[in-house]
Amino acid sequence: MAGTFVTFEGGEGTGKSTQLKLLAATLAGRGIPCIQTREPGGTPEAEALRTLLVNGDPGRWTAEAEALLNYAARSSHLEKIIRPALSIGKFVLCDRFSDSTRAYQGYAGGCDMKLLDALEAAIVGSTRPALTLILDIDPVKGLERAKARADGSEDRYERKGLEFHQRLRAGFLKIAEAEPKRCRVIDASGSVDDTNASIRAAVEPMLHG
Ligand code: TMP
Repeated sequence: MAGTFVTFEGGEGTGKSTQLKLLAATLAGRGIPCIQTREPGGTPEAEALRTLLVNGDPGRWTAEAEALLNYAARSSHLEKIIRPALSIGKFVLCDRFSDSTRAYQGYAGGCDMKLLDALEAAIVGSTRPALTLILDIDPVKGLERAKARADGSEDRYERKGLEFHQRLRAGFLKIAEAEPKRCRVIDASGSVDDTNASIRAAVEPMLHG
């Protein structure tokens, strides 16, 4: 794999998407070619699955169905966007990836982790991120932020209740603890600039080979 795969993870209202754009601008400023993409999504087929996942009644899918739909989207995304970009040496910045399935469907939703292990082995294989930035915030604050900027769409997970979001945060922290080399927990409770500074510090070592 010639390129560098970096993923952004975290609960709702962490400012992940803003931070991804800021990092992309930093890389562009240094002449490093990168693509910005997201999950579920990134291809027209996966975006169609996203619409099914992020809208409607919070209980419309079981956690297992959500895992399968996310992995269907991920399979398309990996084959058509992520692997081709990495193979020509690009930096790939991805807003969410398989850790979101572990945290949302597994730790928070109760999906059997063995199913998620099997899906990850079959679909992701060796295309694992070199670095995963886990943006961390108290879910009370995160949900407030998410609500403040909401336009009433794509809020199915925001409506799942505080306990779900507390399990979610604990799940992301467990993932970080289990893989400290790959994952960096970034405090996302401060300003956009503070969070950006922490992210730049975490990414910097990767820019020098
Ligand atoms: P976003 O709002 O960060 O773009 O993400 C869309 C929603 O999808 C978010 O609420 C988290 C959720 N999600 C999962 O539940 N499982 C997954 O595997 C992914 C990628 C996202």
